Amino acid sequence: MAEEIIVAHESENVSGVVQIGGAKNSALKLIAASLLGQGKTVIHNVPHISDIHIMSEVLRSLGATVSWENHTLTVDTTDAEGYKTPYELVSKMRASISILGPLIGRQGRACVAMPGGCQIGARKIDMHLKVLQALGVEFSSSHGYLNATTPNGLHNANVILEFPSVGATENMLMAAVTVEGVSTIDNAAREPEIVDLANMLNEMGAKVEGAGTSCITITGVPLEDFRPCEHTTVGDRIEAGTFLTAGALLGGPVTAEGIDPSFLRMALMKFEAMGCGVSTTENSITVGRTQPLRAIDIQTLPHPGFPTDLQAQFMLLAAVAQGNSVISENIFENRFMFASELNRMGADITVEGHHALVQGVKRLQGAPVSSTDLRGGAALVIAGLAAEGETRIYEIHHIDRGYEDYVGKLQSLGARVERVTL
Ligand code: EPZ
Repeated sequence: MAEEIIVAHESENVSGVVQIGGAKNSALKLIAASLLGQGKTVIHNVPHISDIHIMSEVLRSLGATVSWENHTLTVDTTDAEGYKTPYELVSKMRASISILGPLIGRQGRACVAMPGGCQIGARKIDMHLKVLQALGVEFSSSHGYLNATTPNGLHNANVILEFPSVGATENMLMAAVTVEGVSTIDNAAREPEIVDLANMLNEMGAKVEGAGTSCITITGVPLEDFRPCEHTTVGDRIEAGTFLTAGALLGGPVTAEGIDPSFLRMALMKFEAMGCGVSTTENSITVGRTQPLRAIDIQTLPHPGFPTDLQAQFMLLAAVAQGNSVISENIFENRFMFASELNRMGADITVEGHHALVQGVKRLQGAPVSSTDLRGGAALVIAGLAAEGETRIYEIHHIDRGYEDYVGKLQSLGARVERVTL
């Protein structure tokens, strides 16, 4: 089969306004949560990316119908009687484990293929299992499938997460909302996508309080009282941060439209610390630069700490900044592969375990490179816009998982970049 790659050339001026789509890491869970309502749930601002299409297939495999109208997805769960998800779908996207919570809420049982690891880490689900077991779920695994049953029904629980896992918080939320009594999640993840999910669950009839803080309280509502709803996905803060990196690297200014700046406070602080100008409105962020980039130290942490999904993009900025930067990746155990690709372009990055020492260089050189994961791939394209000569980026299916029309949006900012079929 013909392979598609992205070819990027040194681009003098990359600036302008780019529309940000709905958050991939919210929409995926909103689609799963629609299982808790009986009938048609309408979700607006859903990006056309391959992960969303896979999640739509998962819902279809359970008997739901899923249809698109531009960026609006309608999920009709009237006939969604299934409780088994096929391996070939789950193996493609580990986020499909987010179907576990709502399936247990709707069917009282689930049989989901165990998610595999991926390039950035083992992606374990032990915390997911622990919080669901606290609600009364019993698990067994056989032939690569995880079987969840509730032989004695579900009961409320007060859980504390060892680590504020986004996925475990979401699965607990979606399973506990129909459980009689009051459940709490302590040390919960605080990402904006958790708030978006809780808002939609409440629009369906749930009673969730405290989303966005470390302690979430859920007062159970009977499943039959849940109703389908109409909800708009929040903007994708990582897509926004990725395009703003182009403005920071090439001078910009680049404006990301359709994003709440409060979602990116730490990243905006780091743009400013590196010498960029940052301005915001209620629904947009602008980043530009007139002076040389300054070195920076970054620790990726759970929200509101620095987002791991912007680590590669800021490593790129550090690679051409004046001075030495230290980037510590505290969320995933293997999220520095991007560094070796950037070193092929002339960067000077030394990785020691969870730390990367980045010594700024004057210029990057265009080179053939390979996307290692979704965010690293997106950052390689931007690197190619600043590097001398031509950069060919391979394995771009990683990028298509999380960015709708990435090349088109960069072209609209004046970038010299195109998709090429080999
Ligand atoms: C979500 O992954 C996002 N994915 C990730 O975005 C994001 O990087 C991550 O949250 C952190 O913000 C989606 O929402 C689909 P975690 P998730 O549970 O839920 C370990 C992207 O580029 N862990 O907070 O998997 C886990 O291995 C992607 O859009 C356990 O050990 O993140 C990881 O090291 C990449 N056991 C860390 O915790 C568990 O039971 C954070 O995982 C669960 C997680």
